[in-house]
Amino acid sequence: MRLSLVMISTIILVACIKVGPPQTVMVERSEHNLKRGEYLVESVAGCMDCHSVRDWSYYSAPIDPKTHGAGGDVFDEKVGMPGSITSPNITPFALGDWTDGEIIRAVTAGLSRDGTPLFPLMPYENYAHMSTEDVYAVVAYLRTLEPIEATHPERRLNFPLNVIVRTIPAEKEAPAKAPTLGTLEYGKYVMTIAGCHDCHTPRTKTGKFIMESYMAGSPPFKLPDGSSVAPANITPHENTGIGNWTKGQFVARFKAFDSDSTKYIPLVEGQANTFMPWTYYAGMTEEDLGSIFDYLQSIPAIENMVVKYPEQ
Ligand code: HEC
Ligand code: HEC
Repeated sequence: MRLSLVMISTIILVACIKVGPPQTVMVERSEHNLKRGEYLVESVAGCMDCHSVRDWSYYSAPIDPKTHGAGGDVFDEKVGMPGSITSPNITPFALGDWTDGEIIRAVTAGLSRDGTPLFPLMPYENYAHMSTEDVYAVVAYLRTLEPIEATHPERRLNFPLNVIVRTIPAEKEAPAKAPTLGTLEYGKYVMTIAGCHDCHTPRTKTGKFIMESYMAGSPPFKLPDGSSVAPANITPHENTGIGNWTKGQFVARFKAFDSDSTKYIPLVEGQANTFMPWTYYAGMTEEDLGSIFDYLQSIPAIENMVVKYPEQ
């Protein structure tokens, strides 16, 4: 017991050194940054999907506009979290006093303003790969959100996660610019920022991705109404994945939700819902969706039959 306490303290000490102080930088609130930032925050990187309350009375649970950026979505034992975390408010009401560098550090290296390590449900491990240009654009846009007054309960993480969480934040060297459109690297880049693998790749009990099953589907997650839905196999496997899909079909599947009338489609009695954020990603450009498709078609095809809606 004593030994493990020593080990734990060592881990904590090491963790404290891994991420340095925030950078001193003033992000330019240029028109380009605001536009690019809006695109990334509202349709690609998932920020608004998590940092708002999703309304499960509509298909794919689009956000309740009154909570836009104000946080409030609860991730707890009911959805398989070892603890309870309410997504924080990221409107200027909450981040107004933060420096640009502090926001950048939280988003890309996983430390809150006061140095508290963030739980990686906040996908900073993905955003560590975001180009510097894109991170700046995100920060510029966040500053322009309507400030919404909302505070939430502190997070609770069960042991040993409350200790392990300290070892996760890390700084990585980010590329200055995103890869060139039309390359497979570009598709992988957009896919990484969009976090598709976070749901579509299964994990071990300790949360590590099982790379032999990369994108081959995950066990079912619980929805707030108690029903379950499993992320699909999106490898190019012909029968069990999306190997038979054309790029046009893939893009159209998302774009079907890209209008005011299709973003909020009320669920009818008995209809199964999904937490695949179709309506959120619908705002992605056809080029970006197409490049994700090209990348997905280039990864190994894995045979894995996923039952999306398992019997309860
Ligand atoms: C999958 C859900 C999810 C996504 C996507 C997500 N976040 Fe988070 N974010 C969280 C959660 C949960 C926390 C709190 C983690 C904790 O306290 O351990 C958090 C924390 C933060 C914090 C720190 C707030 C504080 O008070 O410490 C900032 C800033 C932030 N997120 C910004 C963003 C931005 C910008 C994006 C998009 C680029 C984003 N988040 C995408 C879930 C998410
Ligand atoms: C929050 C979890 C989550 C994220 C993030 C996510 N998905 Fe999904 N996805 C699901 C679930 C659950 C399903 C199965 C239910 C459904 O079809 O809506 C699904 C289904 C799909 C399907 C339909 C496959 C079929 O056989 O019908 C495609 C295609 C897909 N996702 C692609 C993506 C891409 C591309 C991304 C990233 C841009 C992504 N997903 C991000 C959870 C997620």
